[in-house]
Amino acid sequence: MSVSVNEDGNNVPQLKRFLTDVQDGMVSKTIWIRTEVGDNQEAKREIKVFDDNDVFATPKPERLITRILTLASKDGDIVLDSFLGSGTTTAVAHKMGRKYIGIEMGEHAYTHVHKRMKAVVDGTYQGGISRAVNWQGGGGFKFYELAPSFISIDEFGNQVIDVYYNDIKLIRAMCKLMNYTFSPSPGEYWKHGKGQLNSSIYVTTQMLSVAMVQQILSHLRANETLLICPKKYEPGCERVDSRITVRKIPQSVLKACQFGKKEYLLPIKERTMEEIDEEE
Ligand SMILES: C[S@@+](CC[C@H](N)C(=O)[O-])C[C@H]1O[C@@H](n2cnc3c(N)ncnc32)[C@H](O)[C@@H]1O
Repeated sequence: MSVSVNEDGNNVPQLKRFLTDVQDGMVSKTIWIRTEVGDNQEAKREIKVFDDNDVFATPKPERLITRILTLASKDGDIVLDSFLGSGTTTAVAHKMGRKYIGIEMGEHAYTHVHKRMKAVVDGTYQGGISRAVNWQGGGGFKFYELAPSFISIDEFGNQVIDVYYNDIKLIRAMCKLMNYTFSPSPGEYWKHGKGQLNSSIYVTTQMLSVAMVQQILSHLRANETLLICPKKYEPGCERVDSRITVRKIPQSVLKACQFGKKEYLLPIKERTMEEIDEEE
């Protein structure tokens, strides 16, 4: 038992218990009852509307998440749920005016979460806490998919570009990794993306020759620079002109990536909504 006396003299005695004394567990100090925060049946009803055949096994009711977010966050805070499941956290966070990040690796990212979030934004989903908060829709969200690893190891132990990456995916990935905006020029085949200060990027799976570089150089304006990323290149390509830099893939990618660090600083730009719309 510990008692200390403060100036007001209104302290109450507190029982101090050590972990070694409470190995049989502790009696819960709070109880959240189903009439206030819902239960599993309620959660299943809420999520059933998105996929009646495949009802998610362990959903939480929106009322429960509402209480947690009310206690643990305020307007504009960022809520992270890295095991998103059926998307209850992001749906509730959206309706409560929080920002949020949800991560999910299962198929239900498409079958439940994406559908649910779209319906929340459109205002067509009136389940969960929608009626209680008079939810009418609004706002938006971005839905990203992680691509497979860019580099994989082949049967000889070499680092190679993963087979997932066909030509167009390879160009897009290289633009992103080298910090260029994917924007193929209709007239100049060697311009796949735009960088800063009149710089462009050209990604090719062909063997790059000195003659090819010279041919491109004849079209390059005096104030332009070009980064060429070929899979292989002939010696001498990198010395044709100071405005042209040659970086072999995947070596250039490996250099742009950081391994074994606590913070990864890959230079990936935040895309604007216009850029996302354009790409999609
Ligand atoms: C118990 S469920 C979450 C339920 C969720 N709170 C709801 O109300 O719908 C856990 C989820 O975490 C996902 N998961 C497990 N490991 C993961 C990982 N490494 N990355 C992303 N999601 C993961 C599972 O696919 C599963 O959907």
